[in-house]
Amino acid sequence: MNEVKNLTICDHPLIQHKLSILRSVDTGCKEFRELVSEIAMLVAYEATRDLPLRDVEIETPLEKMTAKEIAGRNLAIIPILRAGLGMEPGILSLLPASKVGHIGLYRDHDTAKPVTYYCKFPVDISERIAIILDPMLATGGSAIAAIDMVKEAGVKNIKMMNIVAAPEGVAAVHAAHPDVQIYCAALDRELNEHSYILPGLGDAGDRIFGTK
Ligand code: PRP
Ligand code: URA
Repeated sequence: MNEVKNLTICDHPLIQHKLSILRSVDTGCKEFRELVSEIAMLVAYEATRDLPLRDVEIETPLEKMTAKEIAGRNLAIIPILRAGLGMEPGILSLLPASKVGHIGLYRDHDTAKPVTYYCKFPVDISERIAIILDPMLATGGSAIAAIDMVKEAGVKNIKMMNIVAAPEGVAAVHAAHPDVQIYCAALDRELNEHSYILPGLGDAGDRIFGTK
């Protein structure tokens, strides 16, 4: 794990190995989808490291003991449509009691600015820790818009989970929302002239859903 201020790069060997397959142009839709979910689960392991615990009395086959359990049902998972949906199964297999909200955003092809088309949150989201999911953090426009919406819903503790992030996007999110910790599997080199991440993995939504 590699940590600079507000950015945690989860570079465990298992994640790096899976990410290399994910990036490859030769990886097909089915395997790509499975890998996005698996990597999301592994990154979530780090993103949930600070979840509050409480004591619980249990009995092993040998004796009684005071053990730990996660305190309360306090998470809201918020995938950004479309590509964030690919991360949802992996996270929910780890955190099945989470509630789920969805934010619909797409980048305008000409301006690369986010356009919002959908938003639905759990009614009690303001009492929860929100983890926003999107495999790609490029310019940061979509992440900033999503964080704005989650904050407007009253959430105080927000984490951003990506698979591949660009330095430009990380800087933009940190400037707009310095309180939000970003967790990713890799910090790539730069954006190209179309605001795609280099070396990146291409268009995550198209590769997850087979739309190109
Ligand atoms: C992609 C990606 C992010 C956004 C990142 O979505 O999944 O949401 O771009 O770019 P940004 O950091 O520059 O905002 P896209 O707009 O392609 O929408 P889609 O998932 O519906 O294809
Ligand atoms: N969205 C993607 O899917 N890929 C990129 O490289 C940038 C934005």
